[in-house]
Amino acid sequence: MGHPLLSLEKKNAVVIGGTSGIGLALAKGLAMAGANVVATGRRADLAAAATREIEALGRQSLAQACDVTDPSSIERLRDTVLAHLGPVQILVNCAGQTRRAPTLEMPEADWQALLDINLTGALRACRAFAPQMIERRYGRIINIASIASFVSLYEVAAYSASKAALMSLTKSLAIEWARHGVCVNAIAPGVFRTDLNASLIEGTERGREFLLRTPMGRFGRVEELVGAAVFLASEAASYTTGHTIVVDGGMLASGVNH
Ligand SMILES: NC(=O)c1ccc[n+]([C@@H]2O[C@H](COP(=O)([O-])OP(=O)(O)OC[C@H]3O[C@@H](n4cnc5c(N)ncnc54)[C@H](OP(=O)(O)O)[C@@H]3O)[C@@H](O)[C@H]2O)c1
Repeated sequence: MGHPLLSLEKKNAVVIGGTSGIGLALAKGLAMAGANVVATGRRADLAAAATREIEALGRQSLAQACDVTDPSSIERLRDTVLAHLGPVQILVNCAGQTRRAPTLEMPEADWQALLDINLTGALRACRAFAPQMIERRYGRIINIASIASFVSLYEVAAYSASKAALMSLTKSLAIEWARHGVCVNAIAPGVFRTDLNASLIEGTERGREFLLRTPMGRFGRVEELVGAAVFLASEAASYTTGHTIVVDGGMLASGVNH
């Protein structure tokens, strides 16, 4: 048996952007720690597949697609989860996209679209799920930020701005909701090979530079983010709020590595 403070038994979690890559690993990790988990995204087939994986771990789940750019779809998700599983204690905002382009060549509509998904999408989900947490005086919100919240990555200005702002939003909500028992924290992953970035980092100069800049000399494995998420989702994090845990193989700590 694990440490009781880290057990997520009798808790319900929603992971938005939980159907692939990092979010799916976190959804399964929270389920292994005892939570019932709803993993969702826009593609219904991926939501259904994630549901089957979580149920195979012996937890309850349900398949309901959701698009964070559409407030009504987030409300539908919340209402369906509340009706079938009951109150949601844990919300993970992991829906995110990126686009590489020289900033002068990026259409304003693309800039707006990325901020809408990565930043405003998380805000919408927080606003949809927080009231029922505040009412019960208990909640754990985890936003998935990035090392780009701290340092900029070449030619992804919109992504970097969205992730820096997401870290700021994490602090703003943390100080507003601390008095209501809701902890709001973030995880800033370094580089993990997923659908999001495979074409940007696989066999590219950018990929090689990331590895040079990472003291551990390798990309992360998505399972290596689970410990931080389970901690932030648990009773053990009762006095931790407004914080961002960096999980990056040492990248942000490093100056020169060779
Ligand atoms: N991979 C990395 O190295 C890295 C590093 C730092 C931070 N992150 C962050 O981690 C998060 C997950 O990324 P990932 O690498 O795991 O990428 P991924 O495999 O592409 O996963 C993205 C997830 O978000 C969902 N999603 C995308 N747009 C959505 C929308 N509008 N509404 C609802 N769900 C949406 C996707 O499902 P659908 O497409 O079906 O909607 C999918 O479940 C992102 O926020 C990303 O910025 C990743």
